[in-house]
Amino acid sequence: MLRTHNCGELRLNDKGKNVTLAGWVQRIRDKGGMIWIDLRDRYGITQLAFDESRTAKELLATARKLGREFVIRVTGEVIERFSKNDKIPTGDIEIDVQQLDILNESKTPPFTIEDETDGGEELRMKYRYLDIRRNPVRSNLELRHRMLQQTRQYLDSQNFMEVETPFLIKSTPEGARDFVVPSRIHQGEFYALPQSPQTFKQLLMVSGIDRYFQIVRCFRDEDLRADRQPEFTQIDCEMSFVTRDDVLETFEGLIRNLFENIKRKELGTVERMSYDHAMKYYGTDKPDTRFDMKFVELNNVAKGKGFRVFDDAELVIGICAKGCAGWSRKQLDKLTDFVKRPQIGAKGLVYVKYNEDGSLKSSVDKFYSQEDLRTWAEEMKAGPGDLMLVLSGEKDHTRKALSEMRLKMGDDLGLKRPDEFKALWVVDFPLLEWDEESQRFHAMHHPFTSPVPEDMEKLESDPASVKANAYDMVINGVEIGGGSIRIHDRSLQQRMFRALGFTEEEAKTQFGFLMDAFEYGAPPHGGIAFGFDRLCALFGGSDSIRDYIAFPKNNAGRDVMIDSPSPISAEQLEELGIALKPKILNRIS
Ligand code: AMO
Repeated sequence: MLRTHNCGELRLNDKGKNVTLAGWVQRIRDKGGMIWIDLRDRYGITQLAFDESRTAKELLATARKLGREFVIRVTGEVIERFSKNDKIPTGDIEIDVQQLDILNESKTPPFTIEDETDGGEELRMKYRYLDIRRNPVRSNLELRHRMLQQTRQYLDSQNFMEVETPFLIKSTPEGARDFVVPSRIHQGEFYALPQSPQTFKQLLMVSGIDRYFQIVRCFRDEDLRADRQPEFTQIDCEMSFVTRDDVLETFEGLIRNLFENIKRKELGTVERMSYDHAMKYYGTDKPDTRFDMKFVELNNVAKGKGFRVFDDAELVIGICAKGCAGWSRKQLDKLTDFVKRPQIGAKGLVYVKYNEDGSLKSSVDKFYSQEDLRTWAEEMKAGPGDLMLVLSGEKDHTRKALSEMRLKMGDDLGLKRPDEFKALWVVDFPLLEWDEESQRFHAMHHPFTSPVPEDMEKLESDPASVKANAYDMVINGVEIGGGSIRIHDRSLQQRMFRALGFTEEEAKTQFGFLMDAFEYGAPPHGGIAFGFDRLCALFGGSDSIRDYIAFPKNNAGRDVMIDSPSPISAEQLEELGIALKPKILNRIS
């Protein structure tokens, strides 16, 4: 070993020991008679001292040659510091250096390697290996590591077996777009990278593996957001001979275990909420239930008073912001601007202030009497001091807009407490959703999800009303995971493909292997996949999963460090049998 200790472990009771440390130069303070250097490695910082009265001349000369991020090795005695630093665990000691070797020099880094760096996002991504030297990034990766280990340990203890499934698979048209990989040997043919190991894990159930898991990379060519990357990691799981409740209990167990062991927190009761309930009261299938502010439908009390906007609307709906009656005109205008942004798309916002003196003041006083507004307040359980905020329009659109406004109010009023975690299962999703563009049904989850038994018969007669035996786990408004009980019978799978508009032939070419497998004794089975990056970000208290991925893509899907994606050579294209359009060739050459 090039060192006897790391930079985070020496304490006062090591005083007098002769030690060798290695690491990076974080900071140099040259006070003439004394030089102090902060030596950093993954474990911490230890102060090195060079005292002109004791240190050899050549040694001092070498120390004066050092620059930030040089890699050095020192040997010396652990001594007690004169002025102690109570901010770091090694702050009571320093090393009286007797030997110093420069193991490697370093150019001045493009940004400071400190907790609060001066480097912008793009620069840090380009030099991500330097960014990872910084404490906040490294500790995010440490958290990820601990969560990986804990997950494996828990699932292993529950008899789950880790099986790896292939990355070079077959392209299918469902869900997001596939990333495809051209085959050199079979020119004109392509592999696809898996969007998830869904069909393989189901085949493993047919194989009798019984309980499978895999911490696995998935690839989806979709638009990026803070919580989406083109390659991301799932904790992917499947079980045989289970009902929905068995799956929910098992994986509630996993999440509980992670909270207890990693966050040292008890996860309270995990509520179960139907999709319909979530949409009606929160306007989203991933409600943040850390705060209440549920939707109240006001059609009965708000229509028929001559206010055209409400009279013509399919839905009039509001939320009550407790204690906000004192909001200024400016605050309300800002909120109105927020809901009118194109991304949210509300036409306007109606408010009613329930003043402390019991009077009601609204933005639609022309149409509604005090009595009318009082009935609104009753519906919304509003009292003196409260503010009612109301939107109207087409049902789904208005619910979505109000959901955004509810979340914004949650932020503005500090109701989304960062140290609080509220998990719930959203259940009873619709099996299918109608897609206007393609004029056909899409599977809301994926085509292997089973309908709930009681709706099985309606698959042909009333497909839109069929509920899926599917579930999502939502924590603090983030979809952390999702899964379902699967179809395990060929004829039902065929009916499902038919409902999705597949011809017999299409179903056979794309998923024939799975339907064939169902004919060889497929057990009833179900499972789930958790978004591992999202789980890490949630545990770490960040909105961006990028902070928890060692080498992420930027928001244009690029890796700016290795410069990818990038063109390939004419020879490579030729070998793969791929001809690019002249327009594209011109652009990249
Ligand atoms: P689903 O598509 O819901 O289900 O994905 C499961 C979970 O993966 C996470 N996730 C993502 N995380 C980061 N970036 C992305 N682009 C991304 N897309 C999804 C989410 C999501 O809840 N095979 C099924 C699971 C099953 O049925 O067992 C599946 O992949 O947290």
